[in-house]
Amino acid sequence: MTTQLQISNQSPETLKNIQAQVQQRYQQLKSEGLSLDLTRGKPASDQLDLSNQLDGILEGDYSSAGPDVRNYGDVWGIPEARRLGAEIMGTKSEEILTGGNASLTLMFFAVQYHMNKGWNGPESAWSKNPNAKMIFPVPGYDRHFTICETLGLDMVTVPMTKDGPDMDAVEELVRTDPDVIGLWGVPKYSNPTGCVYSEEVVERIAALGTIANPNFKVLMDNAYAVHDLVYPAPPLANMMDAARRHGTESSLWLFASTSKVTFSGGGISWVASSTENLAHYAKYIVAAVIGFDRVNQLRHARMFPDMDAVTAHMKKHKDLIKPKFDVVLETLGNELSQDFGTWNEPEGGYFVSFDAKPGLASIIIALAADAGVKLTPAGSAFPYKQDPRDCNIRLAPTAPPLAEITKAIEVFAVCVQLATLNSLV
Ligand SMILES: Cc1ncc(COP(=O)(O)O)c(C=O)c1O
Repeated sequence: MTTQLQISNQSPETLKNIQAQVQQRYQQLKSEGLSLDLTRGKPASDQLDLSNQLDGILEGDYSSAGPDVRNYGDVWGIPEARRLGAEIMGTKSEEILTGGNASLTLMFFAVQYHMNKGWNGPESAWSKNPNAKMIFPVPGYDRHFTICETLGLDMVTVPMTKDGPDMDAVEELVRTDPDVIGLWGVPKYSNPTGCVYSEEVVERIAALGTIANPNFKVLMDNAYAVHDLVYPAPPLANMMDAARRHGTESSLWLFASTSKVTFSGGGISWVASSTENLAHYAKYIVAAVIGFDRVNQLRHARMFPDMDAVTAHMKKHKDLIKPKFDVVLETLGNELSQDFGTWNEPEGGYFVSFDAKPGLASIIIALAADAGVKLTPAGSAFPYKQDPRDCNIRLAPTAPPLAEITKAIEVFAVCVQLATLNSLV
């Protein structure tokens, strides 16, 4: 165990000495010729192996409660997969449409639908307003930003707190800015801060539809709904029930997938909303897809007949990835005091979000790259890649083997120390 460096209340002379020692340690690590990668928020191969049973699981039995899964059709997805999605997202089965291997496709379609078609007739299409903008709590998930950029939707940010988006800021925007057309977030184990939206935040999000303009929508990407690292897991209040209480179901879109449950490249996904909303949505997307891969939906439904099967499976993921999170958190705790930065200790999801001292994120990332450790580029968790304080760094510990994580996080900690000391001396 390394002793934490103390840099507060030190004389300039002492700081210089500490800096020289850290510089030496950095050079030593650099000379090791490392090639490590902490950028990829994806499962490791051993996690993917947990789902290899999907191959061959049907054993030639294609029977489902819906139409023949081998044929074209039924864009809603098979009833068994809709039921599974409903359990994971806490909705009714009829409020679910089951998609293919990417919930991002379903999100893209949802935003595109609102851009092009509008909910209250053609004049309500978001694209009719060149200033239309989506609210994002930051730091957040870059691919959501990419969808907005791709479809020509502006973005405005609010701070992320430990309980979810800063709802005072969200409500203020919704009330005062008529161009605000939506709020997009990740309600459980948010990417990257790992926070779970509190009951109060869920309730206030559900109530937004009552104070917002009629074209306002809430998009909640529940990508990490079942990705717990601790048991009992922190609960997320039921978002659809909250919307029902406020009569705002039609302004709520929920998404989830099995991308980090089974195969990231071969899972299934879900979108949930009011049945009325979904009927329009289904009619819209059927122009692009006659039906998603229902054979794969059936495979997933056979693998997960109920939520107990999902939980048992996710505990196996936890057993594989928890040690990786532990080593990251232990190393950060051992090496870095709050003088160097702050970070979250996630109870689930895929990331650790680190906030360095302002102005240092890009320097730390460059130092790490020079020492052979690739980190997510600075600003990635902000719209237009602009972190106004240049402090946030997303660490993704799941994909590399434990030994590589251990080394990479040591290098990261030393880079944080060095960048901070260089800024002080
Ligand atoms: C918050 C979030 N949503 C969605 C995705 C991607 O989901 P899918 O594979 O279902 O498109 C990711 C992947 O990292 C994610 O972190």
